[in-house]
Amino acid sequence: MSDLVDRDSADETSASPQPAAPPSTNGGERHIGLRVRQWRNRLIGSQGFRSRALRFPGTRWLVRRKANDLFWLTAGFVFSQVLSACVSLGVLDRLRNASLSTKDLAKECGLPEDRMQLLLEQAERLDLVRRAGRSRWVLDDAGVVVASDPGLTAIIAHHSLLYRDLAQPADLFKSRKCTTQLRKYWAYAHGQNPSGIDPETAQSYSALMRSSQAMLADCILAAHDFGHYDSILDVGGGDGAFLVTAATAYPSLHLQLFDLPAVTELARTHLTDKYLIDRSTLHAGDFTRDPVPDTADCVCLIRVLCDHDDDRVLDILGNLYRSLKPGTRIMIAEAMAGDSEGAQLSAVYFSLYFLAMGSGRCRTDTEIKNLLDEAGFRRPHTVATPNPLLATLVFAER
Ligand SMILES: C[S@@+](CC[C@H](N)C(=O)[O-])C[C@H]1O[C@@H](n2cnc3c(N)ncnc32)[C@H](O)[C@@H]1O
Repeated sequence: MSDLVDRDSADETSASPQPAAPPSTNGGERHIGLRVRQWRNRLIGSQGFRSRALRFPGTRWLVRRKANDLFWLTAGFVFSQVLSACVSLGVLDRLRNASLSTKDLAKECGLPEDRMQLLLEQAERLDLVRRAGRSRWVLDDAGVVVASDPGLTAIIAHHSLLYRDLAQPADLFKSRKCTTQLRKYWAYAHGQNPSGIDPETAQSYSALMRSSQAMLADCILAAHDFGHYDSILDVGGGDGAFLVTAATAYPSLHLQLFDLPAVTELARTHLTDKYLIDRSTLHAGDFTRDPVPDTADCVCLIRVLCDHDDDRVLDILGNLYRSLKPGTRIMIAEAMAGDSEGAQLSAVYFSLYFLAMGSGRCRTDTEIKNLLDEAGFRRPHTVATPNPLLATLVFAER
């Protein structure tokens, strides 16, 4: 993956998710840069050059590093399947609070012992597990994080849909009308009448959103002080997972949520279970056209705009602009494309994800600010979070 964050080498490729750079004012310099890049590419493209660079002790480390990076890229899908098998067989979960032998794990996961051993050895190479004796295993760092985060586990499990959609990636890039698994899963992104989606569909994606909200909410709350507000409104707020975390951090905050009718019912149950329903107001509707209440100081859109193409984003923002009173703050929180390694990784992942979903895209903060600006919102500005892999924030004012 290192080439993705190497700005020098990404310059002339399409790896950067940023919009195309405007034509350089200094054509000469650009021309020289291009010539140097082409000369460098010819060198790297030569098997003889690579062979000499590998044998020369001064450059061997670099050639090996580049080869390993390329191998990660080539075999990444295989590595993901090791993780996926560990999650779906419950290997990591079983090791969460215990060290177990290969034999016990094989029995519990329903695998022949030699196959269990094969899987555990690969998981060890990927830092998911480590040996605690000749044939005993405990979790390694990455394994601990996955096993202790139900949201991450749920995301990894639902990747089975994404993997099926990515089986023919060239077809996915060619076609604009694929019938994909993710398209069916995220039913609201395509229906003419999203308010009509059935409770079962809503329940399925809302459960995934709730479990994966914990890490995101933490990241948002670390980056912004919600203590300035009396009331916040989470638009497309799912079953209220963000509001529950915000309510714990800010005990006097009034909570409001706007989502599709089937989802607000889930939110009612969730907020009731958390003893927060008395502090909450729920609004059911379609955020592209139904009036949104104007009684909150800050309106949050978390992982909402990224699901939709630009014209629909403008419908959502336009509707909010018409509904909200001047001075209301709006916060967009989602993974955004950018220069940091986390933002680059996220952009590649989400770009393919939204391609498979058939709607939405991973935007830069500048693109989001432009959309806010176009919808009429004032003073759009970016706030970084501790983890750009998960989210960047953009604020603006009605
Ligand atoms: C990707 S989920 C994000 C949920 C939540 N904000 C989170 O980050 O966990 C998008 C949310 O937008 C809601 N949504 C989609 N289309 C909608 C519409 N037209 N009107 C209101 N809500 C909608 C969905 O029901 C879903 O809860």
